[in-house]
Amino acid sequence: MSAADGPGGPLPAALLPLTAEVDADDRLRIGGCDTLALAEEFGTPLFVYDEAHLRARCREAVEAFGPGVNYATKAFLCKAMAALAHEEGLHLDVSTAGEYHVARAAGVPASALVLHGNNKSTGELARALREGVGRIVVDSFDELDRIEALVAAGLPAPAVLLRLTPGIEAHTHEYVQTGQDDSKFGFGVHTGAADAAFQRAQASPAVDLVGLHTHIGSQIFEARFFERAIEVLARWFHDHELPELSVGGGIGVAYVAGEEAPSIAEWGKAVHDACAAAGITARLTAEPGRAIVAQAAVTLYTVGTVKDIPGIRTYVAVDGGMSDNPRPVLYGSGYETFLPRSTGAARTRRVTVVGKHCESGDVLVREGRVPADLRVGDVLATPVTGAYGHSMGSNYNKVPRPAVVFVADGSARLVVRRETEDDLLRHDL
Ligand SMILES: Cc1ncc(COP(=O)(O)O)c(C=O)c1O
Repeated sequence: MSAADGPGGPLPAALLPLTAEVDADDRLRIGGCDTLALAEEFGTPLFVYDEAHLRARCREAVEAFGPGVNYATKAFLCKAMAALAHEEGLHLDVSTAGEYHVARAAGVPASALVLHGNNKSTGELARALREGVGRIVVDSFDELDRIEALVAAGLPAPAVLLRLTPGIEAHTHEYVQTGQDDSKFGFGVHTGAADAAFQRAQASPAVDLVGLHTHIGSQIFEARFFERAIEVLARWFHDHELPELSVGGGIGVAYVAGEEAPSIAEWGKAVHDACAAAGITARLTAEPGRAIVAQAAVTLYTVGTVKDIPGIRTYVAVDGGMSDNPRPVLYGSGYETFLPRSTGAARTRRVTVVGKHCESGDVLVREGRVPADLRVGDVLATPVTGAYGHSMGSNYNKVPRPAVVFVADGSARLVVRRETEDDLLRHDL
C-alpha cells in the first residue's frame, strides 16, 4: 500500500473495477464510459458494472475449478448477469424459485442450475425435477421426504449433493457464518445427522447421490477454514465412491483501503491442495458469488444535503441509502467513498454518508472521506458495491430500486431499468 492510500489519500485504485481509468480531467471512466455522463444519462442512484471485470472473474473461476464451477446468483442477479455467467461456462447456484426463474428466463438450461435452500418447497422441487435441474443440494430430512414423494409420483430422480455442516466457526460476521454446529443449514457432522442423511440418500432410489457440499460462511479471508472443512469431510470420500465435492462460496473481498483478499486463483489452489493432502480425488467445485461481482461495480449517487454539526460530524445525504445497500446496516460493513469528478484528489474531509430513509441507522459509509470541496449536486460514488447490494435491496419508504448498467468498450447497456413510482403500485389491488 502506498502512503497515498492511507486516510486522507485518494481512493486506492485496487478497489475499482478492472477497466477503471482516470481521464486528463481526473474524471473516472469505467468500461470506456465517463461515469459522470452515465449519471447524467441514466440518473442516480445507479449501479455501474464493468462487464470486462465480470467476465475476467468468471474466467478466473473456470480456470481455478474447471467449467461448470457455479456462480452464486444471490450476490447479484438479473437476466444479463445470468446470461453472462452462462456464456463464460459457469453453472448457476440458485436458492429460491425466484432465482431459478430469472436464470431460466435468461436462457440458462435447467441442467446448468444447482438448486439450494434450507426450506425448498414442494413446488420449487417439482419444477426443478420436471425440468432436469443439474444438481439439488439437499439440506434436510424433510426435503428428502419431499423429493421421494415427487419421484414416487413420477418425476425423474435428481442428482444430489448433501449439504454437510462441518462444525467450523469461520472468522466472519455471525450472520454470515454457516459452518458451525448451531446452524439452520445442512446436516451436522457432529450431531450424527450427516451420517444418517448419507445412509438414507445412498439407499434411496429417489436420489442419485453424487457428492457432498459445504459452505462455511461469507467474507472469509483465510484458507485454513476451508482446509479444516475439507479435512472433516474427507472420511466420506475415503469410504465411498463419491465423484464430487463442492466447497461452496465465501471467499472474502477487499472493501476498504488496507484490506487484502486472496484471489479466486489462490483460493482455488489452496482448496485443491487441501483436497490432495486429505486424499480426496473427487472433482472439486465451488460457488463463489461476492468474489465474482463485488469489485465489478460502483454505485453513483447525487449529494442532496450536507449537514455540518461543528465539532461532531458532517452528514452527507445522498439519493439512495439502505434500500440499495443494506450491508452497512445489517453487518456494520465498511465502504469507501469518493468523487468521480476528482478521482485522484486527496480526501481530507471526514464525512458520514447517509441515505434518504426515515431511519437514523440509514448509513452507507460511517467513516467516509471526500475531497474538501464536496458540494451539493456532486455525484458521489461508493466502490465495491456489486455484491449483495442490488440483490438485497428493498423498496423501504417506497424508494424505487435503482437502474443497473453494464459498461464495456465505450458503451453502456441498461440491463435493469430504474423502478418508477407506478411500479410501486403494481401489486396493490
Ligand atoms: C450455499 C452458498 N453458496 C455460495 C454462497 C456465496 O457466497 P459468497 O458470495 O460469499 O461467495 C452463499 C452465500 O451466502 C451460500 O449460502
